[in-house]
Amino acid sequence: MRYIKAIEEIRTIRDYKKEEVPDHIIDEIIIDAKEDILIGRRDDIMITFIKDGQKFYSDLSGKTGYFGKMIEAPHYILISSKQFSGYIENSSYTMENIRLRAWDKGLGTCWLSIEDEAELSRNLNISEEFIPLSLIAIGYQYKGFFKTDTSPKSSRLGVEELIFDGQWEKLCTTNILETRGIINILYYTRLAPSWGNLQPWRFILDDNKIVLTIADKDFLQHLDAGIVMLYFQKSAQEEGIFGKWRFDISHTDKYNIPEGYKAVAYFEI
Ligand SMILES: Cc1cc2nc3c(=O)[nH]c(=O)nc-3n(C[C@H](O)[C@H](O)[C@H](O)COP(=O)(O)O)c2cc1C
Repeated sequence: MRYIKAIEEIRTIRDYKKEEVPDHIIDEIIIDAKEDILIGRRDDIMITFIKDGQKFYSDLSGKTGYFGKMIEAPHYILISSKQFSGYIENSSYTMENIRLRAWDKGLGTCWLSIEDEAELSRNLNISEEFIPLSLIAIGYQYKGFFKTDTSPKSSRLGVEELIFDGQWEKLCTTNILETRGIINILYYTRLAPSWGNLQPWRFILDDNKIVLTIADKDFLQHLDAGIVMLYFQKSAQEEGIFGKWRFDISHTDKYNIPEGYKAVAYFEI
C-alpha cells in the first residue's frame, strides 16, 4: 500500500450505507495494523471489532462522539490498551493506520471521541487492565442520490507554520527544509487529522532530529500526537528515510518551548 496516496485522499466519512463489510476485509486490515505498532508489545493492545453496529449505536448514543453525537455506521472498531510509556500515542497510531488501510480498500471511517469510558468498557466487556482509547465508525460511504462525493477535506496548517528551526518560533525556511530533504514529508504530515481539527502539534528541527511537541492539555492531544507520528513516519519511509519515533527525549530546555506545550518524542533523519 502507498501511504502518501491514502494520506492525501482520506477524509472523515460521516454517512454510511447499511451494507456490512465482509469479515475477511476487516480481519486483514486489523492484522496488518497490529503487525506495525509504534511502541510496546502487541499483546498490550486489544483491537475489538464491533460487528453489530446497530446495537452499539443505540447503546452508546449520547455517550460517544463529539458532545455525545454518535455517528451511525454498520460497524465500529475500538482499541484498548494496557498502560506503558507511549500507550496513548501507540493506540492512535495503530487506529489511524487502520483508517488509512481501510481507505485503501474503499472503506470510510470516522474517529469518535470517547465521552464515557466506563460505559464503553461495560458495554463491550473490556477487562479492567485495558483502557478504551481509540474508537472509529467504519463502513462503505453513502454518497447520496447522485453517487459522487464532493465533500472537501478540512483545512490544514501550512508547512512553514508546522516546524521551527532549532527553537520555538524560529522560522524554518523552505530552503532549509529542502536541503534537509524533509519538505515533502512535512507536506504530508500536516494532513494528519486531529480532535476538532485543532492540529495541536509543532515540530522543531534540531540537527539530525525532528522533535515533536504537542499542546499539553489532556489525553486527546496525545491521541493527536500518535496520529501525526504515523503520518510523519510513513511519509518519511516513502521518501527513503527509515527511522522510528523515540520517547526517551531529554535536554529540551534549549528549545524554549512555551508553557502549555511539551516535547513528547523525536525522530532521527
Ligand atoms: C481523537 C479524535 C476524535 C475525534 N472525534 C470525532 C467525533 O467524535 N465526531 C466526529 O464527527 N469527528 C471526530 N473526529 C474527526 C475530526 O473532526 C477530523 O479528523 C478533523 O476535523 C479533520 O477532518 P478530515 O478528517 O475530514 O480532514 C475526531 C478526530 C480525532 C483525531
